[in-house]
Amino acid sequence: MAYSMLNGAENLRLIRGITPNGLGFIRSDLHGNHFPKMGLVSCARNSRTSIKTLAPRCSLSATRPASQPRFIQHKKEAFWFYRFLSIVYDHVINPGHWTEDMRDEALEPADLSDPNMIVVDVGGGTGFTTLGIVKHVDAKNVTILDQSPHQLAKAKQKEPLKECKIIEGDAEDLPFATDYADRYVSAGSIEYWPDPQRGIKEAYRVLKLGGKACLIGPVYPTFWLSRFFSDVWMLFPKEEEYIEWFQKAGFKDVQIKRIGPKWYRGVRRHGLIMGCSVTGVKPASGDSPLQLGPMAEDVTKPVNPFAFLLRFILGAMAGAYFVLIPIYMWLKDQIVPEGRPI
Ligand SMILES: C[S@@+](CC[C@H](N)C(=O)[O-])C[C@H]1O[C@@H](n2cnc3c(N)ncnc32)[C@H](O)[C@@H]1O
Repeated sequence: MAYSMLNGAENLRLIRGITPNGLGFIRSDLHGNHFPKMGLVSCARNSRTSIKTLAPRCSLSATRPASQPRFIQHKKEAFWFYRFLSIVYDHVINPGHWTEDMRDEALEPADLSDPNMIVVDVGGGTGFTTLGIVKHVDAKNVTILDQSPHQLAKAKQKEPLKECKIIEGDAEDLPFATDYADRYVSAGSIEYWPDPQRGIKEAYRVLKLGGKACLIGPVYPTFWLSRFFSDVWMLFPKEEEYIEWFQKAGFKDVQIKRIGPKWYRGVRRHGLIMGCSVTGVKPASGDSPLQLGPMAEDVTKPVNPFAFLLRFILGAMAGAYFVLIPIYMWLKDQIVPEGRPI
């Protein structure tokens, strides 16, 4: 499967005057026409080269616009979503979006080079990604954390994960000491976090000095219908948003590797549930330098059951569209002759 690496500092650069509005990206478009032009940024001038280095504005922790309701990007909704999805997750969701070869490619930048490393797999669910981690690291050094007991119950049944620690917890408030782990891995979970910046700040906190975070997640579609359904369902970040969150949390050497199912032939216009693997290194011990206010979602607060149900049903229906997309892409891959765009 084709993939490509982008480096936060190297690839997200601006040159003044290259486009009609005065700003344009130099970017390596490794999958050709389907990769979106990146969004607006504010920038700081590099006096030696006259190249401007990306310093993205905005915080994605802010309230979502009504046009992007992302109904399942809440802890309570995600809990119930996985109450049901956990029954079929390994058999229906992963084969379409997150195959074993994708997993191994996505984990490669995590540098799981030592079996004695302490690794946390956050939003580890049924343990599909953990199965990739324990190929390199002793299972007894790996902790799987998830907010869904139903997902974790599936992980507990897997023989290679028998020695892992399996715990319930929240990605935005991790029950690990500061400077605890050598590696932080999270695959396909960020899209449900109400405050992704907080989750990445937590990744930074729990890592040791020199430790590495590897966050695998969706990428935002450019095709209008896919964009509509992704916005109704959950969070599909843009690549520059991942980089912004990592850099703001304090990570250095932030890199993005693009991934996708091989039968998509590099097409990214429908977005991808597992579209990139983002890594960053913790440069100093202790907590993240980033200060945040209170949590975006207070799970102890009562919710209106009718509003909850409506959000849940609409969000889940939008999610169903993304069960069909990989089938559609698979059929196209079968029909369209090799070498032609699909
Ligand atoms: C798409 S599954 C990914 C599971 C697994 N990492 C894999 O690779 O197959 C997303 C998981 O994130 C979990 N999750 C969602 N929000 C969470 C949160 N705030 N804290 C911990 N886990 C969360 C869900 O319960 C679910 O198991």
